Amino acid sequence: MLRLNDLTKVYATGDRALSGVTFTVEPGQVVGLIGPSGAGKSTLIRCVNRLIEPTSGQVFLGDIDVTKLSRRGLRQVRRRIGMIFQEYALVERLTVMENVLSGRLGYVGFWRSFFRRFPPEAVEKAYRLLDRVGLSDQVDKRADALSGGQRQRVGIARALEQDPDLLLVDEPTASLDPKTSRQIMRLIVEICDESGLPAIINIHDVALAQQFVRRIIGLQAGVVVFDGNPADLDAEVLTRIYGEEDWSATIRKADDEESGDAGDDVLPKTSDPVSEVIDRERLAGLT
Ligand SMILES: Nc1ncnc2c1ncn2[C@@H]1O[C@H](COP(=O)(O)OP(=O)(O)O)[C@@H](O)[C@H]1O
Ligand SMILES: [Mg+2]
Repeated sequence: MLRLNDLTKVYATGDRALSGVTFTVEPGQVVGLIGPSGAGKSTLIRCVNRLIEPTSGQVFLGDIDVTKLSRRGLRQVRRRIGMIFQEYALVERLTVMENVLSGRLGYVGFWRSFFRRFPPEAVEKAYRLLDRVGLSDQVDKRADALSGGQRQRVGIARALEQDPDLLLVDEPTASLDPKTSRQIMRLIVEICDESGLPAIINIHDVALAQQFVRRIIGLQAGVVVFDGNPADLDAEVLTRIYGEEDWSATIRKADDEESGDAGDDVLPKTSDPVSEVIDRERLAGLT
């Protein structure tokens, strides 16, 4: 169980990204966190594992107050939290298998992983996960030879390789075409359901959130303005979250099932400095 209590973040610049955010994610629950760009979604999930230090408030993972942990305690807790990023944060020149095994870095130590010596059970687990995400025939391919959808599948397998108790997912489909986005969202939610894994999924696409999650939290300027059932996201609530707009098309789109558009193409890559920093930290064995 994850509990956020009065979580507030004011950046050094004076930007108030989160204001008194309080909610609980129950065991096995998958929460979609929606809100416009700049609402504080990324800040929120990064405050959970203190990649960003909250200004005040608490984060409880089970009985542990994450905000009070020492560096060592924090390292242990971070092992229990899997992350999936918009820009995948894969190591381009490594294979799919090596990228998935890098999810174990918190366990096996830097030098061992540097020389790519992983325990056999880790390798077996990686094969199982790659099979689950539909990549069993791509195991030895280099990451830079994959499509966007395949890359995100590697990102999912890597996050699961460490056996997390909680999954934090930041805009997993923002670089993908609509059909691949639905496939990736479905995969993440199915895997969470299968293993009772709780998750927070940041997603700015309302229709996609509505289609796949059963609880939605709406963030607007760092404040929770909605917390409830996707079916209750009507035009009035959407206006509260995103501002004045014609919502009829969005709400209708959420009711459509798969439309037959082509899938799994890579959209142009934009760089995400935060993910890159995290990736470097991860490789340095710091997480
Ligand atoms: N490192 C930072 N320093 C200062 N302000 C930041 C930083 N990161 C984000 N912000 C600000 O915090 C607010 C929330 O940003 P963010 O969490 O990235 O929102 P979202 O993920 O919903 O787009 C924005 O106003 C943004 O400009
Ligand atoms: Mg963001």
